Amino acid sequence: MTNGGSTFRPSLPRILTGWSRIMKTYLTAVLLACTVQAWAGTATINIDTTRTGPKLNPSMYGIFLEEINHGVDGGLYAELIANRAFEDSRPPEGFTLQDGRYKDEKGYESGFEVRPGAVPRWSLIREGEAKGRIQIESTGGLNENTPYCLRLDVEELASGRVGIANSGFWGIGLTKKAKYDLVLHARAAEPFRGSVSVGLENDEGAACSQVKRFTGISPTWKRFETTLTATMAEPKARLVIAADAPGTVWLDFVSLFPRKTFKNRPNGLHRDIAQMIADLKPGFVRFPGGCVVEGGTVETAYNWKLTVGPVEQRPERWNAWGYRRTHGMGFHEYLQFCEDLGAEPMHVGFAGQTCLYRHAEHVPMEEMDWVVAGFTDAIEYANGAVDSKWGRLRAQAGHREPFEIRLVEIGNENGMQQYEDRYKLIHSAVKKAYPDLTYIADYAIPGGQFDMVDHHFYNHPQWFLSQFDYYDRYDRSAAPVYVGEIAVTSDEGGDLKGNLIAALAEGVFLMGCERNADVVKMVSYAPLLAHVNGRSGWHGMIYHDSTRVFGTVSYHLWKLFGANRPDFTLKIDVKFSSLRKASITGGIGLGTWDTAAEFKDVRVEKDGEILYGSDFSKGVEGWTTEGGTWSVVDGAYRQSDRVVGLSYFGDQTWSDYTLTLKARKLSGAEGFLIVFGHKDSNKYWWNVGGWGNRDNGIEFNRTPVGPHVSGHIETDRWYDIKVELKERKIRCYLDDKLVHEETGVGTERFFASAGQCEATGDLIVKVINTSPEDVTTAIKLDGIDRLRSKAELTILKSDSLEDNNSLDNPAKVVPLTRTITGIDTDFTHTFPAYSPTVMRLKE
Ligand code: AHR
Repeated sequence: MTNGGSTFRPSLPRILTGWSRIMKTYLTAVLLACTVQAWAGTATINIDTTRTGPKLNPSMYGIFLEEINHGVDGGLYAELIANRAFEDSRPPEGFTLQDGRYKDEKGYESGFEVRPGAVPRWSLIREGEAKGRIQIESTGGLNENTPYCLRLDVEELASGRVGIANSGFWGIGLTKKAKYDLVLHARAAEPFRGSVSVGLENDEGAACSQVKRFTGISPTWKRFETTLTATMAEPKARLVIAADAPGTVWLDFVSLFPRKTFKNRPNGLHRDIAQMIADLKPGFVRFPGGCVVEGGTVETAYNWKLTVGPVEQRPERWNAWGYRRTHGMGFHEYLQFCEDLGAEPMHVGFAGQTCLYRHAEHVPMEEMDWVVAGFTDAIEYANGAVDSKWGRLRAQAGHREPFEIRLVEIGNENGMQQYEDRYKLIHSAVKKAYPDLTYIADYAIPGGQFDMVDHHFYNHPQWFLSQFDYYDRYDRSAAPVYVGEIAVTSDEGGDLKGNLIAALAEGVFLMGCERNADVVKMVSYAPLLAHVNGRSGWHGMIYHDSTRVFGTVSYHLWKLFGANRPDFTLKIDVKFSSLRKASITGGIGLGTWDTAAEFKDVRVEKDGEILYGSDFSKGVEGWTTEGGTWSVVDGAYRQSDRVVGLSYFGDQTWSDYTLTLKARKLSGAEGFLIVFGHKDSNKYWWNVGGWGNRDNGIEFNRTPVGPHVSGHIETDRWYDIKVELKERKIRCYLDDKLVHEETGVGTERFFASAGQCEATGDLIVKVINTSPEDVTTAIKLDGIDRLRSKAELTILKSDSLEDNNSLDNPAKVVPLTRTITGIDTDFTHTFPAYSPTVMRLKE
């Protein structure tokens, strides 16, 4: 195993803790200090309006819409009944039952809960002396695509009732006086002379609507429809279906839709959630994912052809996120939504390789025809003439005019030679049929043809804060980039993610994307949606329950940035100086990666004072270990297994120190890990002889700090190691030779970018102050004679970096817009601590 944490290629979230605590402590310290000394940073921003930079893509800010977290089924898709087709009891496709669990052939577990006889989301209602039962049947359903159905046996009613209830997705949310359209399918065994009633009730059984009855239930499936009007507002209603006579009734495809959907489309979308998305004014919509595209097995990979046609005939599939997706919001509905939003559709198709983070399965190369056709037919459905095979289906679904897909991504987070081979096959076939589309690859495939590559970044706030210049460093001869997935995912972002720290950090990264718009063409946050009760371990940017919806601070930041996207950038020069010098603080540590080694003569010195000097022969008091087998052998502190092993020492307040020690490798593949700045769960390490014993590199929480330097550690040789910390400067020496000279993360704490809007001429200045101090800034604009003295300023601010919005307090941290005066080509403004600000200046 070789260590090293690439952030360039798709990386799974790195979960880190402690940043918020550090920031809180830091902020408290600053606030306390402010009582004796008013700290304030100063900065200058010089904007040269005559020097224009790259043009931004008008569709730069978009959304990534995936069925995850019950964001679509149970959220955006307005269906209120969960498990409406009773298919949730059906085992996941392509998985087999092994040792009581559904697994694929490589052992990857589907997450399907095996509960024989269970009817997920439905419950039996049996009141009074009534007798009856329910049972899932796996055959005899409404059609062969949805074979499961529910059997209800009513043995005796006495004075009670027998029926079933569905509470939707953690409660059916009702609005008083709103109308709800109900559809159900039923058949009965002869003789059944009764009727089936439907009504909405609350938890206590109190009616929330009138009760309607269906008669004429016969042995063949029949569709019944009615409308229920809510008599009260209720967040946790349930639909109750009851039979009023003994006998056997089968039910299938039970659906309840609010009459009012987004743009009032039938089989439509939840108004409030869709509106939150519309408010982002996305330039594009990437759908349907995400890992759902790849699936856990070939059978569960996303096949858009299963998602078109009458809803009650659409086969459902097990989702990569641990539940079954209904395909109710299918290909057509996605395209319709894009049109309703005025956003470009970006279709992501299955590339013949299932999810790498699960267990990659591959469609054999000689069987790839259907995979290729998945792309060409999708494009024909969206763009084709009404007399083409798939275009006709679109027209039949009510949309004669083409939808115009121009952006196509081949696969999601795929990789390895198998992907590259499949990508090339798909690309050449699809490009031949549709030469003018933009083709997006998951990365720059060697020898591959692509117009854009998709980068994903899930990381901690410090990483994003330290990557303002990430795309400054991008090779200009390489392919343009779509940054398809961005989010702070570590603990610092809070449970919901997207709190103020996260938003600041993402904002800094986005400013870096904007000013590199020659390379970065599109950006989107991920994932977009989450039901508060339906999270798949992931977060959302927009959260909802059955009646409420809110956006996180990240949502508001992205919305603000999208609304203030300039058409081109302007040359900007920013200088920041702070009275407060931030230092790397924290203890030290010793460690190994896949290697056994020993250490001695460890010494920590600051300004001539010795903070620590080891004498391991007397013991290792104060050292704490994490992995590995540590002991003292001949006066040296030894980690004797070929594993990752760390041992820590010291004080979290230590700063500006010099760490010296001797280290010797005993066996294994690599060299040493020398830890410094270890505070809470954050740490730097100098990885000496890492990456297969080929490189030396500094990392903060496994993220690179500066470039690697070639280096190799020999076995059985003592090395002299020295790490010098001065404020944020890090110098690393091996045998007295300087190997690295770097600056720690988060040094820059004041970021600005500028651009102009062609239509209005507005000059847009974005500033993010991530320092704990207000920054008084002299802003100068060259190349224009005068500016209007009034400007619009929008700021996103809160008392704590951990603050976020919630269902109960949806507007705790939202942008505040006001007019500021006294603007000139040379003016001063103070940017508050921990805040993003957008200014629109007018000539
Ligand atoms: O956004 C959640 C998931 O993260 C996406 O499905 C996938 O592309 C990535 O790994």
